Amino acid sequence: MENQNRRVATLTLDDGRSIELPIMSGTLGADVIDIRELGKLGMFTYDPGFLSTASCSSEITFIDGDAGLLYYRGYPIEQLAEHSSFLEVCYLMLNGELPDAQQHEAFGNKVTRHTMVHDQLVRFYNGFRRDAHPMAVMVGVVGALSAFYHDSIDISNPAHREISAMRMIAKVPTIAAMAYKYNTGEPFMYPKNSFGYVENFMYMMFGTPCEDYVPNPVLVRALERIFILHADHEQNASTSTVRLAGSSGANPYACVSSGIAALWGPAHGGANEAVLKMLEEIGDISRAAEFMAGVKDKKYRLMGFGHRVYKSMDPRASVMRRTCYEVLRELKLEDDRMFQMALELEQIALKDDYFIERRLYPNVDFYSGIVLRALGVPTNMFTVFFALARTIGWVSQWSEMIADNERKIGRPRQLYQGAVRRDYVPIDRR
Ligand code: ACO
Repeated sequence: MENQNRRVATLTLDDGRSIELPIMSGTLGADVIDIRELGKLGMFTYDPGFLSTASCSSEITFIDGDAGLLYYRGYPIEQLAEHSSFLEVCYLMLNGELPDAQQHEAFGNKVTRHTMVHDQLVRFYNGFRRDAHPMAVMVGVVGALSAFYHDSIDISNPAHREISAMRMIAKVPTIAAMAYKYNTGEPFMYPKNSFGYVENFMYMMFGTPCEDYVPNPVLVRALERIFILHADHEQNASTSTVRLAGSSGANPYACVSSGIAALWGPAHGGANEAVLKMLEEIGDISRAAEFMAGVKDKKYRLMGFGHRVYKSMDPRASVMRRTCYEVLRELKLEDDRMFQMALELEQIALKDDYFIERRLYPNVDFYSGIVLRALGVPTNMFTVFFALARTIGWVSQWSEMIADNERKIGRPRQLYQGAVRRDYVPIDRR
């Protein structure tokens, strides 16, 4: 701390004024310059897209894009994907530590007891067109949860924050499965609490009242891994949206709903869908080389490649590739045309100077669409699955922000480039 206080960056303006700005160090990652005092000079910084701005301090997730590292609360994503469960990761995210056996069981029981939605909420679905995009339904119905829990949305009360977090983790899978069922016209399935978290979601998605649903453990594990890989990714667009909405004191259901809206955009949550579309268009492995030539000519992009933060292999992509093998083997689809094409494109890219020079590697989305498709998930539900998994990240980041003594309402400034002052001209003189 002492050392941290001694380090400063000195900013000198062209008019000779200067200011010393403290340099702050985190436990990992790049140092940051604390510019909070800059306003004293009557100036702001300009940083569209926040490429050089840390908007908060956080203890939840760490990414090193150059080294290809992703940690949740210090634990490498590969270890969590291999050994942990999604509910355990939820506990870790919310509480900062892995649970012991008793805490794990108590947490699981709590989540399980909140999986049903209020019966009145079911009527919301009838207000949507049957062909409504399930993400539109998610934005609406998750936001509507705030209308049901007036008694527990005092954000300054830690017990209220905890119960809201539990409700969100438990109910978002139910709401997501209902969005799917409404789309297909099949009856809604009530949650079945004898199932684990992921099994229960698969049951609500793929089960029907006509027959017993027997979850396949290999496929359950695959989906569990997808959820773990997508649980959080530090201050991305949707998480920043949740924090910004929450900074005004808005209730957590409304904040998560705003996160779902941000995730819906194709540049954020829609890339795995775009990968499948691309593979469909290529059509056959024999056309892979020709397609890649078009990528290098900048006619189109290789979807599922490249990342704003990762400039080496996205650690989630390797886990996802392995999961892809496991799922396709289990379903006896090893020769899956899409998967073979994806492997071929990856091999070409990893050896090609265009991709090597630009540090373009597969990201998590390159293989996740193939896994989801093999599981029988329709493409319009891909982003919904992402939203389900990311709910724990949003809720944890929101809780952290509310408990932070340095919390302020989010209020970026701007570089104004509009008209200077002018007088109103009556319409007959324009
Ligand atoms: N295919 C071909 N060329 C690419 C690709 C790609 N997928 N991605 C980047 N490039 C090239 C650009 O043309 C540019 O080349 P140039 O230097 O000759 O002009 C260079 O690499 C840098 O590209 P930028 O767009 O500046 O990189 P940025 O970091 O801003 O973009 C992004 C990252 C948006 C993810 C980009 O790589 C991309 O569009 N990828 C495809 C879409 C995708 O997979 N998105 C999912 C991201 S992961 C997620 O959201 C969960």
